Amino acid sequence: MSHKADRSFFDRKRHWSKRKDNILECYLPPYLSKIATQGAPVLIVDAFAGPGKFGDGEPGSPLIICQSIQTALSKGLSVPVSALCIEAEKELFFELNRLIGQFPFAKARHGKFGDYIQEIEEKAKNHSVFLYVDPFTVEGLDWHRMDSVFQHLNISNMSIEILMNFNARSFVRRGLAALKLAIPESNLEIEDTEEIDAPIVTPPSIKRLSKVVGGDWWHNIIKSSANFPKKVQHVANGVCERLSERFNEVCQHAIKALPHHTVPKYYLIFGSRHPDALILMNNEMVKSQRTLADIAKPKDPTLFEMRPIELVPDIEKLPTIILEHASRPTERRLVILNVIRECFCRFAVKEIRGCIEQMLKDGKLKSETGKVRINDSVKIFAAAK
Ligand SMILES: C[S@@+](CC[C@H](N)C(=O)[O-])C[C@H]1O[C@@H](n2cnc3c(N)ncnc32)[C@H](O)[C@@H]1O
Repeated sequence: MSHKADRSFFDRKRHWSKRKDNILECYLPPYLSKIATQGAPVLIVDAFAGPGKFGDGEPGSPLIICQSIQTALSKGLSVPVSALCIEAEKELFFELNRLIGQFPFAKARHGKFGDYIQEIEEKAKNHSVFLYVDPFTVEGLDWHRMDSVFQHLNISNMSIEILMNFNARSFVRRGLAALKLAIPESNLEIEDTEEIDAPIVTPPSIKRLSKVVGGDWWHNIIKSSANFPKKVQHVANGVCERLSERFNEVCQHAIKALPHHTVPKYYLIFGSRHPDALILMNNEMVKSQRTLADIAKPKDPTLFEMRPIELVPDIEKLPTIILEHASRPTERRLVILNVIRECFCRFAVKEIRGCIEQMLKDGKLKSETGKVRINDSVKIFAAAK
């Protein structure tokens, strides 16, 4: 069911939505040029599209997607690309249709994401597919139907990627209601209370929630003695684990309204089979995290870093982490990837590379060429003590 808040969401773009959209906007250009090398046509799906533009003139995801495609095509991308934008609300759909009608490669569709899954699945047999899934709450998500698209990673050997906004706190509140457990009141100290989520008047059924996340694994989390923020994090981790059954590379980034919040507004969860995609996504999510860290900067400069380690990672720890992944000769590319897998969203590739170069200069690392300036395919290893 829609509610008035759905529409007021599009009056102006909030700063956390900007962080989310920046990730999409910065990821798509390198994605498109990389995926084109596979030779298959590309389909980008915006499964919960909205009207395309905010009241303050800021672009919504459909416009971001279409502009990225248009730029890539104008630079001579070697494969055709199409966009499919789905919106359930009639009025929003009309706006969407009007806006993206100017892009010949884009189609707007009225209805629910679920209504178009079969069409998307057909395309996934011979297209590279990028699924952008950005619902308000967890309503509208159906794991098994999405998985019918994901299965083409194996069946058709096509590239499928998903970037999903997963509202874990909404899921936990719904889960508590469905299991007839106490729902915590919104708490300004730990979460943003401007809630676009409809109040849970009729709790969703247990069956419905299991459909959202593809199983009943969430029951134990909801019933556990963990506090609300931990339950929210555990559910997000559970969704990542489910995605890992299909995707080699899965990562998550908590989108918080304010740096001190322990309950994020939602998580951006990404799945791909390609390590390069994880590296690209890491860079974008690091940028997003640093924008949040800037909000937490004290007005007057302090001698020491006062912000928490989750917000401002300790770069001093990086050499030790690198040494663990270079305990035997390993290509620099793989060392970087493994550092990112272990510490997702903490260090940008540039920082890891820079640190490796410094360690080579300081003699803490050696390279198989004996040089300090090396490329990604050169093996590096810890120097003997
Ligand atoms: C968070 S908004 C999307 C915002 C959009 N991604 C943007 O950045 O501009 C979610 C949208 O999904 C629509 N919606 C809700 N349920 C849907 C469903 N089952 N299928 C498709 N769209 C749905 C809502 O009307 C709303 O416009």
